[in-house]
Amino acid sequence: MSGPLWHGRFEGGPAEALQALNDSLPFDRRMFRHDIAGSRAHVTMLASVGLLTGGEADSIQAALDRVEAEMADGSFEFTASDEDIHTAVERRVTELAGAAGAKLHTGRSRNDQVATDLRLWLRDELTELVGLVGRLQRTLLARADGAGDAYLPGYTHLQQAQPVLLSHHLLAHGWALARDVDRLLDARGRTDVSPMGAGALAGSSLPLDPRRTADELGFTHVFDNSLDAVSDRDFVAESLFALSLLGVHLSRVGEELVLWATEEFGFVVLDDAFATGSSMLPQKKNPDIAELARGKAGRLIGNLTGLLATLKSLPLAYNKDLQEDKEALFDSCDTVRLTILALDGMVDTVAFQTTAMAASADSPYGAAIDLAEHLVEGGMPFREAHAVVGGLVREALADDDTSFAALVAAEPRLGPDAAALVEPGVAVRRRTTPGGAGPVAWPAQRGAFVARLDAQDARSGA
Ligand code: ARG
Repeated sequence: MSGPLWHGRFEGGPAEALQALNDSLPFDRRMFRHDIAGSRAHVTMLASVGLLTGGEADSIQAALDRVEAEMADGSFEFTASDEDIHTAVERRVTELAGAAGAKLHTGRSRNDQVATDLRLWLRDELTELVGLVGRLQRTLLARADGAGDAYLPGYTHLQQAQPVLLSHHLLAHGWALARDVDRLLDARGRTDVSPMGAGALAGSSLPLDPRRTADELGFTHVFDNSLDAVSDRDFVAESLFALSLLGVHLSRVGEELVLWATEEFGFVVLDDAFATGSSMLPQKKNPDIAELARGKAGRLIGNLTGLLATLKSLPLAYNKDLQEDKEALFDSCDTVRLTILALDGMVDTVAFQTTAMAASADSPYGAAIDLAEHLVEGGMPFREAHAVVGGLVREALADDDTSFAALVAAEPRLGPDAAALVEPGVAVRRRTTPGGAGPVAWPAQRGAFVARLDAQDARSGA
């Protein structure tokens, strides 16, 4: 074989500018193992339906083994005509296995081949990424367990609202990640479909056995429509979405760490290994990882919207535009992997400043709702109770010499028990409802989270 795979039809060779634009080898070579796995399965299927003799199949399989070894150890010599990983593998197999090698592409197109490779690659990648998310979830759980009774202000509108246990706050992120895991595994389920046998777009006149190829590759499903099989990139788009939303959740963790590490909050001190200094300002300790977790989310969203724009007007079936799927997907997977690993280390090592957290959360205003609910328990309608306590807040804020606690103690409608409600550390203990932020509800939440982690592991099968 000389020149490109279509050399029979063409008289002239490709222009350099075409090759530079057209070649996907620089980025799709990372799928070489999956490409070779796809070829092995295809060869087994071809032999099973009599399109290859046992001897031919054996010599192609031996050549595939050799190609895989060469690619793995870096000795594989790519040539200028190796447009993509599929071309490179087939070219070398043909060099090694001669006439038998020239039969490798029987009943197959790069269109069903590339869709197969990408599904195989992504199936493995999603399993690995789910494992990494689980690792961060376990780190959050470990830090939550270590946080004991520590509490901090809970915020709405970034204004102090009610105190919450630090453990509860940390697991709020853990639960968001649990949904990300579900989404990644759902996407993996729809990735688990074999396109082999669809050919270029319409199937084949040869007696192919797509189910057999799928079984060889461990695919649960086989395509139902050949046009759809080669043009469907839903599995890429939805994986990019799941990764984007995961990135958004990592970004939110990052944003809180950035805030908490400020002088103004002082809720955390970053470990030296997971912080950076300033080239100019000697006193600085910067939360770069947390900022990058925030920044990378933009890139992940960009990869998703870029692919959706690529897909939106494509006629059936394969179009070269689809080659654009891979760099976005690879980049999003790589980005999420790097981000989770660094953020995991940061969360694992950050020193929580629980005294500063408590001091902030002990503002008596954090118990305002408890005072109103105390009135409700005495029979007062909630709206009226809200107004009574709101009046005391207004009064205290209006006069620097009057403390809220003193007004509470002096308010006859609140009665003698009210003063204890604004004592430090009391409000968080009164959050008793299921899923609430206090210590009474915590063990049940913790148990549910551990069960969720176990279910996740079972489902991911990693
Ligand atoms: N490199 C191509 C891609 O990534 C492989 C499929 C090429 N198919 C074709 N008909 N030119 O999509």
